[in-house]
Amino acid sequence: MKTVVYPGSFDPCTNGHLDIIARAAKLADKVIVAVLVNSSKTPLFTAEERVALLKTAVSAYDNVEVQAFSGLLVDFMKMVDSTVIIKGIRAVSDFEYEFQMALTNHTLFPEIETLFIPSGKDYMFLSSSIVKEIAKYGGSLEGLVPDALIPVINKRCHP
Ligand code: PNS
Repeated sequence: MKTVVYPGSFDPCTNGHLDIIARAAKLADKVIVAVLVNSSKTPLFTAEERVALLKTAVSAYDNVEVQAFSGLLVDFMKMVDSTVIIKGIRAVSDFEYEFQMALTNHTLFPEIETLFIPSGKDYMFLSSSIVKEIAKYGGSLEGLVPDALIPVINKRCHP
């Protein structure tokens, strides 16, 4: 598989996201992690901050790059010349929304296929929202996000 795109809000990225990135990086020649706007969410970190956190987290991978984009995912796909979207699925509750997005993107750009990777079993419960909630009340983020990101997330969530 050539270039695949792993899109999301990544506000902030978690070890669950990084598990999907690591597994996608084994399948594809190149993985582009795309920080996009989810209009139903108000992010805590700016797009630039989310890109910087992701870049720190994926620095060990030669075939992973991180970009931000503020338009439609299909337009980003065309811009980077990729037709494969990677999404992680944690539970049945994720499925309806992800299925809707996959069909929408396929309708907008029929060459696009979305491939779902099941979440790692250790990360079934994990989300960016849970990370922010734990940090807000001073809980430990160990094992939930890369160690290097913990001070940055704590500072923003629990100043
Ligand atoms: O991590 P998230 O918030 O579930 O990611 C959702 C995201 C950002 C991938 C999705 O909202 C998205 O693709 N946003 C870009 C705009 C777009 O193309 N929307 C889908 C068609 S309406």
